[in-house]
Amino acid sequence: MKKTGTIAVFPGDGIGPEVIQQARECVDLCAQRFAFGVKWVEGCVGGEAIERHGAALPEASMRLARESDAILLGAVGGPQWDDPNRRIRPEQALLGLRRGLGLFANLRPIRVYRALLPVSSLRPSLLEGVDLLFVRELTGGIYFGEPSARRTGSHGREAVDTLAYTEGEIARVVRSAFLLARGRRKRLASVDKANILASSRLWREIAHEVAREFPDVEFHDLLVDAMAMHLLRHPRDFDVVVTENMFGDILTDEAAVLTGSLGMLPSASLGETHNQLGEQLGMYEPVHGSAPDIAGRDLANPLAAILSAAMMLQHSLGQPHAAVALERAVGQVLDAGWRTADIQQDNCRLVGCHEMGAVVRRRLETMVP
Ligand code: IPM
Ligand code: MG
Repeated sequence: MKKTGTIAVFPGDGIGPEVIQQARECVDLCAQRFAFGVKWVEGCVGGEAIERHGAALPEASMRLARESDAILLGAVGGPQWDDPNRRIRPEQALLGLRRGLGLFANLRPIRVYRALLPVSSLRPSLLEGVDLLFVRELTGGIYFGEPSARRTGSHGREAVDTLAYTEGEIARVVRSAFLLARGRRKRLASVDKANILASSRLWREIAHEVAREFPDVEFHDLLVDAMAMHLLRHPRDFDVVVTENMFGDILTDEAAVLTGSLGMLPSASLGETHNQLGEQLGMYEPVHGSAPDIAGRDLANPLAAILSAAMMLQHSLGQPHAAVALERAVGQVLDAGWRTADIQQDNCRLVGCHEMGAVVRRRLETMVP
């Protein structure tokens, strides 16, 4: 019998719906060509959900996510909801899904496509062959620590955030990173700020303990400020990089510069929950945001969403061949010179969001007739 996966799809705000539509059509084509089933169930999150239901992550959406095999999410946020003092903010949907589903390992592959070497503001000679994987801790640290509050003290207005980790939270994400490194070039760097932060000193201690289980993986640690520099000076030195939540947030935006555009970066968020297919439950989203300035104008780059869908095929739907085919199709489309505005070059074929998705699907059709 044909395996059928249920995918909760949350297009979200801004360019979210446009890029997700393209990713969705790619998955449907894969399903047809690789003979598996997909059932899409659509839900509402982010700004749209705030308008319609008064919450960024309505209970019904959370239920949809829990009952699915995978979640495909576009982006959340927009200028209407930007006031950071708002009690209800679109970003709460992301944090709620990540934490609520226990998706503690956020995989952000940074692959530099040969065809895009000239697009980056960095020298091509530095970028050639860069292929690294960030594993960002996603459900702990300063994003979730208590207390987190603004208050009035004896010196006037003050605010506090808390960066806290337990040994279990550190060990599981570091272990995930080691396992991923084992399947790649067997090198892992752990990034912390152990010269200053107690939480980082614990992080380092636990990382070294876990490292003993993986004598076949070359392991070292680095301070986050040094990492910020090495990432741009010797990006080829890295294979897998594991780090805590906020450092990972910052470093992966920096790493996007290597690829030429944030519009190229996919992500997968995984935990320890198995879905009904016996694969990992996961949430997949492009790293870029909702880009309200270009929303609804068919200008967005759908490749990050499409590559996120490929990660979903691999990790949650048990379709590694379809995943590889979809990734190859993206590479070939870039080689053939198709470009959206964010990765535009001279003598390239400039297309919109919809056409870029269609070109990827045409490639896929010729690859898997
Ligand atoms: C990301 C984003 C989010 C984060 C925001 C939108 C909450 O920047 O996924 O990197 O900080 O995690
Ligand atoms: Mg970020």
